[in-house]
Amino acid sequence: MTDIASFVAVLPKAELHVHVEGTLEPELAFALAERNGVELPYASVEEMRAAYHFSNLQDFLDVYYAGASVLLERRDFHDLTWAYLERAHADNVRHAEIFFDPQTHTARGVPFGAVVEGIRAALDEARARFGLTSRLILCFLRHLDEAAAFETLEAAMPYREHIAGVGLDSAERGNPPRKFARVFRRAREAGFVPVAHAGEEGPAAYVREALDVLRVTRIDHGNNALDDPRLVAELVARQVPLTVCPLSNLRLRVVDDLASHPLRRMLEQDLLVTVNSDDPAYFGGYVNANYVAVAEALGLGAAELLRLARNSFEAAWLDAGDRGKLIDELAAAAGA
Ligand code: ADE
Ligand code: ZN
Repeated sequence: MTDIASFVAVLPKAELHVHVEGTLEPELAFALAERNGVELPYASVEEMRAAYHFSNLQDFLDVYYAGASVLLERRDFHDLTWAYLERAHADNVRHAEIFFDPQTHTARGVPFGAVVEGIRAALDEARARFGLTSRLILCFLRHLDEAAAFETLEAAMPYREHIAGVGLDSAERGNPPRKFARVFRRAREAGFVPVAHAGEEGPAAYVREALDVLRVTRIDHGNNALDDPRLVAELVARQVPLTVCPLSNLRLRVVDDLASHPLRRMLEQDLLVTVNSDDPAYFGGYVNANYVAVAEALGLGAAELLRLARNSFEAAWLDAGDRGKLIDELAAAAGA
């Protein structure tokens, strides 16, 4: 391990932007395809992995939704989530806030309950075995319409206690946050904490709309917010967290290379920025790999890495006691 990799490895951290469907490794996809009698459009695990070359977000989404077709039963969602949690634990993730895309599954006839109960069982096991705490965030697919999002919110109501927040993902361009203004209002009234992907491929104006119209408390990605200095000033003043995903940005060509990634500028401007893996099975690395790759490319040192890990706890939905304990553990780990 490099010095940076071994430093990152010992830091306790939270992961706040990971799609459970994006943690489906080709090996598990093939095992589930066989178990469920589903055909994958690849001859082998190697061929599946070799197909992961994307020119943009939509290119990736086509492959990602096709991969999810192997997920049918409650135990499939359990096994998928458990595989992620074992990897997260190995990366010293102490708390994870995990997105799921129910519409990808209910559209194929999978009951909403099978999805949530399967994920939930794995989250409970991780808490018991690793002390890894978690929250679940239901994402609406923004390429679908408002009525479909309302139906999904209704389907979530019996599982209200298991779902902490709502988010917005999928194809950003042409699907502005305001399309879901009424759904988010209903979700907020029901007690879900709102977040949204914004400023990944879409403009700074979508970040502004996510804040003002959807009233989100956190922005997923947020890269293009940097185009609007007044918006940046507000994000800084309010300390609205940004959940940034360096390897995702690289693989979806949001940035040309990691050396031009905006993370350093975000830190310098005092944005509450965090590092996350997004869809690690597709983008070549889990959370520690994201820290290491971006640190190497931007020349980030120990102080900046520590700040990123601390930000992950500041930005997480933790109560004050748990947050304080994790930040104390982080300080102890960094000093050791
Ligand atoms: N769904 C999974 N990953 C995503 C991303 N990076 N952007 C939008 N939707 C997604
Ligand atoms: Zn994402």
